[in-house]
Amino acid sequence: MERVLVTGGTGFIGSHTIVELHNKGYEVDVVDNLCNSKAEILDGVEKITGKKPELFKVDIRDKEALEKIFSERRYGLVIHFAGLKAVPESIEKPLEYYENNISGTINLLECMKEHGVHKIIFSSSATVYGTQEKSKLDETMVTGQGITNPYGETKYMIEEILKDVADSDPEFSCTILRYFNPIGNHESGIIGEDPNGIPLNLMPIIMKVAKGKIPQLQICGTDYPTPDGTGIRDYIHVVDLAKGHIAAAEHMKPGASIYNLGTGRGTSVREMVTAFEKASGKALPCVEAPRRPGDIAEVYADPSKAERELNWKTELTIDDAMRDTLKFLSSHEA
Ligand code: NAD
Ligand code: UFG
Repeated sequence: MERVLVTGGTGFIGSHTIVELHNKGYEVDVVDNLCNSKAEILDGVEKITGKKPELFKVDIRDKEALEKIFSERRYGLVIHFAGLKAVPESIEKPLEYYENNISGTINLLECMKEHGVHKIIFSSSATVYGTQEKSKLDETMVTGQGITNPYGETKYMIEEILKDVADSDPEFSCTILRYFNPIGNHESGIIGEDPNGIPLNLMPIIMKVAKGKIPQLQICGTDYPTPDGTGIRDYIHVVDLAKGHIAAAEHMKPGASIYNLGTGRGTSVREMVTAFEKASGKALPCVEAPRRPGDIAEVYADPSKAERELNWKTELTIDDAMRDTLKFLSSHEA
C-alpha cells in the first residue's frame, strides 16, 4: 500500500481521515506546525486504529524542512489539509491567510514536483462558490465570484493553481474536494474537534456552551430569508467526510477533478440547536445576535457527482453527529 503524506493531519478533519486511511491499510506520515491542533490527537488515532503516524512538526512554508521530509520518504499521495480556516479572522488578517494558505501550498507543490510525487487531494470549501442565485451548489457552477472573505479567496486561488499545474503536467492528478460544514467526531469519542484558542464555528461553540465555558450561543442572524430566519448550511458528519477522501484516493485520475462533499440537505442554526438539545436532554442557552460579516443565508451541496464517480455518499445523520459529539464531550474538556 502506498505511503500517504497528510498535511494538517493533527487537525480535525485530518485526524479523522488518518483513521480511515489506517483502516484501509495505508501508511501515513503527518506534517503539521500545530498552530491549531495538538500532537496528542495522534495518540487518540493510535487508540482507535492501533497505529500511530509519524509527526513532522513542520510549517509547510518552511521549504527546507519540507524538502527534507520528501527526500527521506517516498510518498504516493499527498492529502493537503494544512491551512488557516476561520472566516472572520481572515477578514481581520488577510495577509496572514494569503501567506499561510497560498505560499504553503506552492511550497508543497514544488516539493512534490522535485520528488516525483504526482497525486494530491486538496481540502477546498463550499465558499469558493461565492454568492450564487441558487442555494443548492453543484460543481458546474462558476466559482470565484462574490466570495465574501479572504479565506474563501485562498481556497479559490489554490484551486486555480492546482488546475494550472494539472494542465502543465500530464502525470499530475489532483482531486479538489469542496467540503460543506463538517461536524461530529469518531463514534468512540476518542478524537474530535479540539481547536486551539477561541472557537469560531458553530459546533465548537455549541460544545463550549454545553460545557459552561461560554455563557450562551449567539445566533448570528435571525432575519435571513430562510424559514426560521437563521442561516442554513449542509452539515456533514466528519467520518463520512473522511471516507470521502478514501473514495477520492481510490479514484485518482490525471488532471484536476472536483467534487462536492456534502449531504445534499440544509439545516438551520435553530434546527442544530434543537438537535443538540434533543441529544443532550438539556436546554442550550442562546441569544439572538446580528449577522456575521461575510455570511450568506443558505448553502447546501449537490453531492451527486461524488456519488456517481467516487461511489461515495453520506451515511450518518445530524442526530448521529450530536450523539458522537456528546460522547467526545463526556471525556474531553472542549
Ligand atoms: P484544523 O485547523 O483542525 O486543521 C488544519 C491543520 O493545519 C491544523 O492542525 C493546523 O495546525 C495546520 N496548519 C495550518 N497552517 C499550517 C502550516 N502553515 N504548516 C503546517 N500546518 C499548518 O482544520 P480542519 O477543520 O481540520 O480543516 C482542514 C482543512 O479543511 C483546512 O484546509 C480547511 O480550510 C478545510 N475546510 C475546513 C472546513 C471546516 O469547516 N472545518 C470546511 C471547508 C474546508
Ligand atoms: N453561527 C452562529 N453563531 C456562531 C457561529 C456560527 O449563529 O457563534 C452560524 C453562522 O451564522 C452560520 C452557521 O452558524 O449560519 C455556520 O457557521 P460556521 O462558522 O460554523 O460555518 P460557515 O458556514 O460560516 O463556514 C464553514 C467553515 C468554512 C467553510 C464553510 C463551507 O468555517 O471554512 O463552512 O460552507 F468554508
